[in-house]
Amino acid sequence: MRIYNAKPIFIGLVIFFGFATFPFWYNGGRAAPPPEPKLDTPVIQKLEKKECVASKDYMRKSHMDLLNKWRTEAVRLANRYYVSAAGNTYPASLQRGCMKCHSNKTEFCDQCHNYIGLTPYCWDCHIPPKQVTQTEQVAKKGE
Ligand code: HEC
Ligand code: HEC
Ligand code: HEC
Repeated sequence: MRIYNAKPIFIGLVIFFGFATFPFWYNGGRAAPPPEPKLDTPVIQKLEKKECVASKDYMRKSHMDLLNKWRTEAVRLANRYYVSAAGNTYPASLQRGCMKCHSNKTEFCDQCHNYIGLTPYCWDCHIPPKQVTQTEQVAKKGE
């Protein structure tokens, strides 16, 4: 069999494979799985209402702004508590607030940050939580 117009077909194929495999070679050969932040921690499991300190939508987009506000309030104004729109009071603290609930930093914060190649410098000073997930705790109890 003879292939007519072999050249444009070949070029077409190269372009097609370039696009089809883009996610692989763009990421150094690995296909990056989309981030799946996990909420599987003992403190969150015990919450009656599984809610964050603000709406999920706000937290998703603006948690860094909230953290900045908390820091300014805590350090400059000595205001160490935060009252949420839902009327709950939380310690305005990275370690005693966010990380108390999100004690699974690698399965939560890092999931998203690694995906976009971001390493917040906060952990140069702040102590990351000892990793605890609910699954691990249950597994330990069962030993
Ligand atoms: C009282 C426990 C608690 C505290 C404190 C807390 N969170 Fe959350 N967080 C949750 C829960 C529960 C959810 C899931 C909310 C939902 O599904 O509506 C959540 C959701 C989120 C999300 C969205 C995750 C997603 O899948 O889109 C982000 C981001 C987040 N939290 C960051 C933070 C940060 C940063 C702090 C501190 C400023 C913080 N959280 C403090 C319990 C908490
Ligand atoms: C749903 C995904 C997601 C989760 C979960 C998440 N982050 Fe983020 N975070 C982001 C994105 C995206 C940015 C970058 C936003 C930008 O640059 O505008 C970011 C930026 C930040 C920044 C600003 C850092 C900088 O150098 O600009 C801080 C601080 C931060 N996150 C803290 C946390 C902490 C602490 C947690 C866990 C409690 C967390 N994030 C969980 C997606 C997430
Ligand atoms: C150079 C060291 C350093 C770095 C880096 C740093 N912090 Fe802090 N942070 C501190 C110190 C010191 C305090 C004051 C501790 C106190 O008074 O409880 C503080 C306080 C805070 C507070 C309020 C008190 C508390 O318990 O959390 C927040 C919120 C906070 N930092 C968030 C952040 C975030 C978010 C980042 C990263 C974007 C960050 N910090 C990076 C040193 C640092």
